[in-house]
Amino acid sequence: MSATPFTSPLGSGQGLDDEQVRLYYGRKTADILHKYGPGPRVHFHLGMFGHDTHPHTTVPQDVIKQRIVGAQEEIVEHAARSWGAYERPPRTLLDIGCGLGGGSLYWAQRHRARVTGLTIAAEHVPLIRHFARQAGVGDRVRAHVADIHTHDAVRTYDAAYANESSGYMDRTRLFEVVARALRPGGWFGIQEHFVCRPEWRGFLDDYYKTRLGTREEYVSAASAAGFTLERDEDVTDGVAEFWVQSMAWNTCELDRVRAGGAPAAWTLRRLEESTVVHSRLFRLWRDHAVETRLLLFRNGG
Ligand SMILES: C[S@@+](CC[C@H](N)C(=O)[O-])C[C@H]1O[C@@H](n2cnc3c(N)ncnc32)[C@H](O)[C@@H]1O
Repeated sequence: MSATPFTSPLGSGQGLDDEQVRLYYGRKTADILHKYGPGPRVHFHLGMFGHDTHPHTTVPQDVIKQRIVGAQEEIVEHAARSWGAYERPPRTLLDIGCGLGGGSLYWAQRHRARVTGLTIAAEHVPLIRHFARQAGVGDRVRAHVADIHTHDAVRTYDAAYANESSGYMDRTRLFEVVARALRPGGWFGIQEHFVCRPEWRGFLDDYYKTRLGTREEYVSAASAAGFTLERDEDVTDGVAEFWVQSMAWNTCELDRVRAGGAPAAWTLRRLEESTVVHSRLFRLWRDHAVETRLLLFRNGG
């Protein structure tokens, strides 16, 4: 059975250039803080629920929010555990596309790593520094405005981490840069969405402002840069529930604003649009038209 891909008004699927991505994230900061804050560990990625876990959504908004943030923490923790971080904690880690720094703070707080976070959104850097100080790891987390494509570190890091950021990047270049930046034997851990049904790529890229790829494309770019794939975990079923919970949060927010509550960061129209799009995203994940995977690559160079 073939699906009908979305075209207009949901967009063309052209992806954005770096300047547009920068502006997108600059504008989105207040939304992210409102929905996923207050921090200090603020994440902007999907979270994971246990096998066959479908918590009730007819509960207050703050309960859903705690759950959303808990699921984001859970997937970061799960990846770290399965990538062997507790047995061999990385002393130095490059957090590529670090967002508001939730992952950077996690690696610094839980594994005592010295973390360098890179983002192309300048607005995020003072926030990350503030959150790092608040969490007591101001001396372990450094955040910079930088484009990974031109990052020039050589044999500097034990590990690199890209949580839902590699979809914005040129994968050939990304793996080359990371291969050079890692020490021999270092690892590169990735949480990302991979297109399985290409007819949905345009819809997904328009939503995320990305250029999502396939698993095969990543493996081949990694191999060309001297990496071997050590772990490949499909977490799609565990993260599909995130869309349901996120949709529930949006609906509560709509109810709150419609009842006269002060609009926070989102306009009513954007909230309505986002809530409708969420139902489609949930179905794409449930049907595995897109898959979220945790990949661990080992640097052989
Ligand atoms: C979906 S957010 C993920 C944030 C964070 N990793 C997290 O999990 O909360 C994507 C991030 O990728 C960053 N990004 C996009 N393109 C980039 C590039 N070329 N170089 C560095 N960072 C980039 C954006 O600034 C943003 O912080």
